[in-house]
Amino acid sequence: MSRYYITTPIYYVNDAPHVGHAYTTVNADALARWHRLIGDEVFFVTGTDEHGQKVARAAEEHGVGPAEWTDRLAPRFSSAWADLGVEPDEFIRTSEARHHRAVQHFLGRIYENGYIAKDTYRGLYCVSCEQYYAEDELLEGGRCPVHLRPVEHLEEENYFFKLSAFEQRLIEWYEANPEAVRPESKRNEALSFIKGGLRDISITRTSIDWGVGVPWDEGHVFYVWYDALVNYLTAIGYGEDGDRFDRWWPAVHHLIGKEIIRFHGVWWPAMCMAAGIEPPAHIQVHGWLLVGGEKMSKSSVNQIAPGELVAEYGVDPVRYHLLRDIPLGTDGEFSAEGIAARYNADLANNLGNLVSRVATVVAKQCGGIGPAPDPASRLKAVAADVVTEATAGWGGGQPNQGLEATWRLVRETNAELEVAEPWKGDPGPEVDAVLGSALEAIRIVTVLIVAAMPATATELWRRIGLGGSPAQGRLPEAAAWGGYPGGLPVEKGAPLFPRRRD
Ligand code: ME8
Ligand code: MG
Repeated sequence: MSRYYITTPIYYVNDAPHVGHAYTTVNADALARWHRLIGDEVFFVTGTDEHGQKVARAAEEHGVGPAEWTDRLAPRFSSAWADLGVEPDEFIRTSEARHHRAVQHFLGRIYENGYIAKDTYRGLYCVSCEQYYAEDELLEGGRCPVHLRPVEHLEEENYFFKLSAFEQRLIEWYEANPEAVRPESKRNEALSFIKGGLRDISITRTSIDWGVGVPWDEGHVFYVWYDALVNYLTAIGYGEDGDRFDRWWPAVHHLIGKEIIRFHGVWWPAMCMAAGIEPPAHIQVHGWLLVGGEKMSKSSVNQIAPGELVAEYGVDPVRYHLLRDIPLGTDGEFSAEGIAARYNADLANNLGNLVSRVATVVAKQCGGIGPAPDPASRLKAVAADVVTEATAGWGGGQPNQGLEATWRLVRETNAELEVAEPWKGDPGPEVDAVLGSALEAIRIVTVLIVAAMPATATELWRRIGLGGSPAQGRLPEAAAWGGYPGGLPVEKGAPLFPRRRD
């Protein structure tokens, strides 16, 4: 058994969550569930990033203080995730006292270790990114390359982190851990940024007070990014519960969007080194959900609320679409047409049709009692292959590959029924063997989809007469051919995924 600690970025509470945030969060939830299924000990954390100028300004624009504003917004994130069937073990808010203590402890260690010093900083700052830019990184007209808006000139006396001191150690770390940042293209991007030379980084602010106070110099607060990254440690008891911390660190998987690779792949490992802890073991970078070719974003009009999609398609179809259609690592266009097409093809026509046709024929030919599977069925080998492939896909952090493999078993089972036509023959051993094998294939599919579509899997399990939950078994044993015992009532029920006509 191994330990699997998975995190999402903590989201800014300047506005409500959109489907881009849901994409990361649903993928993390499904990966957490998958790892539980293979017997790993799992800890899954998400939360909200509540400090900094961007959030303080949003509060101001709404005429309330930042504390009141964040108290209002944070539950919108936690409830959006609950509505998507996401079940984190921990929801962390950076305004919590435990997080303030962790940040002060962590940055205090870096200060004591001599990697933080005072200086004056002048630079071009994008408030939406909460980041300084060099002139040559900006677009024409001095605009931020991510938000396309003008940056601001900022000058501050503040504390600097000696990032430059970590250039060589970071390069060595990348070379010794070729799998640490995935995919390869993102690893190369971060590594070549490091090799291009690192500048020291300003890590405190005096211009605002909505943040975590610098313990050794009153009037300064930590810069929001340096505060936010530490959430990954706060959530596992850093500085307060050594046993708990050692249990989960550094075996972490940070799932992040590609725009925050420098923070996670350069600053964060260096900060960990400076504080005397191991850098994070895994950083998995994914692409953007696009709308009409543009990044779906809080500061743009193209955002779609997850709740709207859930109301229209149901929770599990939305989860399935996010997991199946946009592979982790590349950008993907998000559209209502895309989600509807996937729904009809995979859910209504393939899985839904298989389940309802098997239940109908079992009612007609077997009095509604499911027969046992055929130990010599052709589907046995197909299922074994599919389980291996699905396990490799999910294990490699690619839910889309795991699901793609799983649907091969759905299609092959439908094809097997087309050939054998068990609805035609007289009731008897031949018909029983075909239907029992189809039920067994459905059982295996149910186990393989529980991470992606937990509610659907639970319902399917019940309909084929099985007790307990499909999430209780452990792979690979739980998907070995022959697990369906036969002799159980099979319920037809309403269509799981009624065909859509849009
Ligand atoms: O960056 N496509 O928060 P944030 C895919 N607080 N993923 C998207 C997306 C899109 N169009 N839009 C957002 C921050 N995301 C910081 C993080 S972590 C210590 C601090 C997802 O609210 C994706 O995971 O801007 C991205 O990295 C994250 O939301 C950014 O959320
Ligand atoms: Mg952002």
